[in-house]
Amino acid sequence: MQSIKVPTSAKSVAIAGATGAVGLEFMSVLEKMNFPIKELKLLASKRSAGSKLKFRDEEIVVQEMTKDSFKGVDIALFSAGSSISKEYEQAVVDAGAVLIDNSSAFRMREGTPLIVPEINPQDSRNHSGTIANPNCSTIIFLMAVYPLHRAYPVKRAVVSTYQAASGAGWAAMEELKNSTRAALDSKPFTPQKMPYPYGFNLFSHNSAIDESGYNEEERKMIKETEKILHSTDLTVTATCVRVPVLRAHCESINLEFSDRAPNLAEARELYAAFPGIRVVDDREKNHFPMPLEASGEFDCLVGRLREDKTLNSKGLNLFVAGDQLLKGAALNAVQIACLL
Ligand code: A2P
Repeated sequence: MQSIKVPTSAKSVAIAGATGAVGLEFMSVLEKMNFPIKELKLLASKRSAGSKLKFRDEEIVVQEMTKDSFKGVDIALFSAGSSISKEYEQAVVDAGAVLIDNSSAFRMREGTPLIVPEINPQDSRNHSGTIANPNCSTIIFLMAVYPLHRAYPVKRAVVSTYQAASGAGWAAMEELKNSTRAALDSKPFTPQKMPYPYGFNLFSHNSAIDESGYNEEERKMIKETEKILHSTDLTVTATCVRVPVLRAHCESINLEFSDRAPNLAEARELYAAFPGIRVVDDREKNHFPMPLEASGEFDCLVGRLREDKTLNSKGLNLFVAGDQLLKGAALNAVQIACLL
């Protein structure tokens, strides 16, 4: 169930990083949502300039992104990496466009809203030209936790992620395929994008570990949750892992509630009333959220709902699967554009 409405007047939209894994999904989401568009500019590096991408019934020529690319643009959707976002932010804002940024460049910056439209849409009103899209694992985590938390406050969450290659872009997705082929053919494989061979393997998330022992992805989940909820009452501890899945992240979540946990019927009811969530929880058929079934879906799938009996009526376990490229990135960003 989606409840976010597209704008009533047509907008000029630019996509920065249009040829990337998220960039292509920006186009598919704009198309599927019937987002009214006056003009669509597709921007990428010099390497892709002149190539053509299909949008609706049109072939659009990809242009090399320059600081002059944003004249006349209303909304600039960025997914070309943090350094590019930082380099171009001023040019976008000077052109009068709103930058909706999928990178981590501005997420924790004071004054820049960090938005999950189903959770804190009101924050989008206080922007000064830039709005940040949260990290994909944070979005999927909060989509599963917030519907319960809003009615039954959560004190502590323990989350373990099973993250797909798509979070690291096209090159990582290709590397997963190639390393799997090499393993099947008993051929040597030297990873380029990931730290270790990816096929038939899993490893701790490939982001920097600081002196605390947490990697950057784990720290993002903790800090971004505080910013989105405007509260430190819900404490989060995370373990982030890459698994050999092409797209759609999964997360195993253990929740400790302040007062009491919702019972299963109450939890199901809360999810049913929340946009962007679908419960997949069939114990008889052993059918629960899976990355293959979450791929291409706008909704996040939630299931494996069960009481954590170690917490005396205060604990609940659950499992969520969400398309990292959609709700974890492009869909969330386009939904933010719809709020403006
Ligand atoms: P290009 O395809 O021309 O390299 P992914 O996240 O899948 O790795 O994609 C990254 C996206 O960012 C691609 O669209 C890529 O374009 C784009 N990109 C990379 N460097 C630049 C740059 N200097 N200017 C504009 N876009 C860039």
